[in-house]
Amino acid sequence: MKIAIFASGNGSNFQSIAEAINDGQLASEIGFVFCDNSSAFVVERARKLNIPIIVFSPKEFCSKTAYEKEILKHLTENNIQLIVLAGYMRIVGSTLLETFKNRMINIHPSLLPQFPGRYGIKEAFEARVKETGVTIHYVDDGVDTGPIIKQEKVPINDNDTLEMVEAKIHQIEHRLYPEVLDKIISKNKEWLLDGKETSTNQC
Ligand code: GRF
Repeated sequence: MKIAIFASGNGSNFQSIAEAINDGQLASEIGFVFCDNSSAFVVERARKLNIPIIVFSPKEFCSKTAYEKEILKHLTENNIQLIVLAGYMRIVGSTLLETFKNRMINIHPSLLPQFPGRYGIKEAFEARVKETGVTIHYVDDGVDTGPIIKQEKVPINDNDTLEMVEAKIHQIEHRLYPEVLDKIISKNKEWLLDGKETSTNQC
């Protein structure tokens, strides 16, 4: 199954998926990485791994719809069947959501519905909860609100620093995302193949 990975920053989750594919643990192909930030480290990671990377920002377009239609054009041209958000720091709009309904997933560093949004790890740490975690979920039009596919708990110990909690969470993310992708790809092909193509229009 051909996937596209959307990322805005570091790209460590992208890298773990790419490595799982290279190691033969995941029967998938990354058609391209899409990044909305040209200075993000994920751009360098993709180039090093020889994976096509498409970079542009919404600022270059007259509207969010026009921005997403350009993304959609690349998705269609590359026959992408599943969008994998991995640190993509934007709310996905209706243009992409309508075409990729049930075919777009995200990873979030908390036990949703607790601590949605950009600062999921820090907010859990500052709230002094005893456990947080990782959630993989389908994407809908809310912020980290879509149906949950898989969660894994991460304990926060009394002596943990924020950096220690971050490290524990990222370690789990890097294992869990390829695992869940493997399940989706090998067991649930049917629901991923119902997407319809959308033509691109000028704004
Ligand atoms: C991860 O913690 C992910 O859960 C969240 O954004 C972070 C991305 O990290 N959505 P990276 O760019 O993959 O290193």
